[in-house]
Amino acid sequence: MGGIFEKYIDADIILWSFPLYYYGVPSKTKALIDRLLPGNLPDIIAHTDGSAGHPQRYNLQNQRHVLVSTCGLFTVQNNYEAVIKQFEIMFGNRFVKILCPEGELFRVPQLEKRTSEYLACVTKAGEEYIKQGVFSGGTQEKLGEPLYPPETFMEMANLNWERGSAAGEIKDGAYRLLRQMAALYKPHGQDKEITLEFYFTDLGKTYQLVLGKTKCVFKEDDFLPCTARIETSFEVWAAISNGRLNGQDALFQHKYRVTGDFSALEFLERCFSGKKNTGNPGEGRPKKRSMWLFILPWAAFWTALPLSPDFGVYIALVITAALPVFSVVKKLTVYDTVSVFCVVVLSVLTLTGFSLPVLVTLSYGLFGLLWIFSTGQRIPLSAWYSSDSYGGDAAFNNKLFMLTNRIISRVWGAVYLVSCTWVWAIMHSYYFQLAGLVNMACPLAAGIFTAFFSRRFPAFYARKK
Ligand SMILES: Cc1cc2nc3c(=O)[nH]c(=O)nc-3n(C[C@H](O)[C@H](O)[C@H](O)COP(=O)(O)O)c2cc1C
Repeated sequence: MGGIFEKYIDADIILWSFPLYYYGVPSKTKALIDRLLPGNLPDIIAHTDGSAGHPQRYNLQNQRHVLVSTCGLFTVQNNYEAVIKQFEIMFGNRFVKILCPEGELFRVPQLEKRTSEYLACVTKAGEEYIKQGVFSGGTQEKLGEPLYPPETFMEMANLNWERGSAAGEIKDGAYRLLRQMAALYKPHGQDKEITLEFYFTDLGKTYQLVLGKTKCVFKEDDFLPCTARIETSFEVWAAISNGRLNGQDALFQHKYRVTGDFSALEFLERCFSGKKNTGNPGEGRPKKRSMWLFILPWAAFWTALPLSPDFGVYIALVITAALPVFSVVKKLTVYDTVSVFCVVVLSVLTLTGFSLPVLVTLSYGLFGLLWIFSTGQRIPLSAWYSSDSYGGDAAFNNKLFMLTNRIISRVWGAVYLVSCTWVWAIMHSYYFQLAGLVNMACPLAAGIFTAFFSRRFPAFYARKK
């Protein structure tokens, strides 16, 4: 205490941080307070308001105090009064306080979104205190808001102790986890009800969550026809829900399977996830990528050149040169840049008098090779463009998303490599001018395949045992 005491009397600001125990400071904090006694002289003096005390041995009149404390109940009322009174007597108006009821929630990973929001507010309060010596009204108000409404909190907290109706029967962990999820439900904003059924293989238990317009109903009997059914061991599901296991990876490794409407799974993330948003709201909307920018230079080359061998090349060059302008609104990928480079080289070769059928056929081959090349890279070509619909760059860590896109990119590559044969034939036929237009069928067919496959393949994969 000798060392601590010296630091104490030297400090400009003392930060007190402790949990609330029996409506007061915990015994160890109390022991520390007791041993601050040498800070006072033994003399007894009377104050003007009729109270008494000991004069200070050191001049600590400018020393300020910050009290940060959590407690287990959901309110400060009939809870913190003793601590506040003690601090008022010890430090007068030289202290500010952050009192956070429902403190146990800070260790629940599923609630990270809300708790980190609160902690960000605590950080802001700290900055304000250093700059202005007080917390602003807005910050104070936010710090006073409960983490969750008392009813939700009580439901979540009490489920940890809930016993079944039969004497001694303790409800299983899956029951508690799903009921806690139901308590935290954020409505999906749609008219229809979505019923998610869970079958826990290790417990042999089935439960349902019915996601309605305003609330989520937990069911352990009287089941409804389900939208999607998730078969999993409780161990796996508990690990996913507390963040120890990545849900996408677990699906990829067939640790759980999904039957019914696979797309209903997105509601798990949307309606129950309390995880922190990774995006920084201050940065505004991030720019998206567009596959059109990748295809545009090629499409210009393929259509304009056969249509007008004299001027087509200039049209292709102008369109290609315009591509960087799009970077103002769209994010360009390395493949967009490579496309520009390839089409410029092909156009220049056209101008130098190279054979048109050779160049056009070569361009289709090059385009197909780009797709095939990308499938050997960490991020296959189509993944760059479709990731925006699957949570942005985070999708690159989703193994099932990457596998789906690797297959899609291979198909696009194969279609364009094979198309070289008929392009070569068309370019030598009477209809060579229509080569570009005829081949518009390729991206159309590949696009339809992509739309179909990207929906169906993950669902098919998720059904497999
Ligand atoms: C012995 C003991 C007494 C407690 N007394 C209270 C109390 O009076 N009021 C309250 O709201 N929470 C009370 N709690 C709950 C704690 O304040 C709460 O769990 C807090 O988040 C614990 O913080 P910690 O995890 O940093 O120890 C008590 C906990 C313990 C262990």
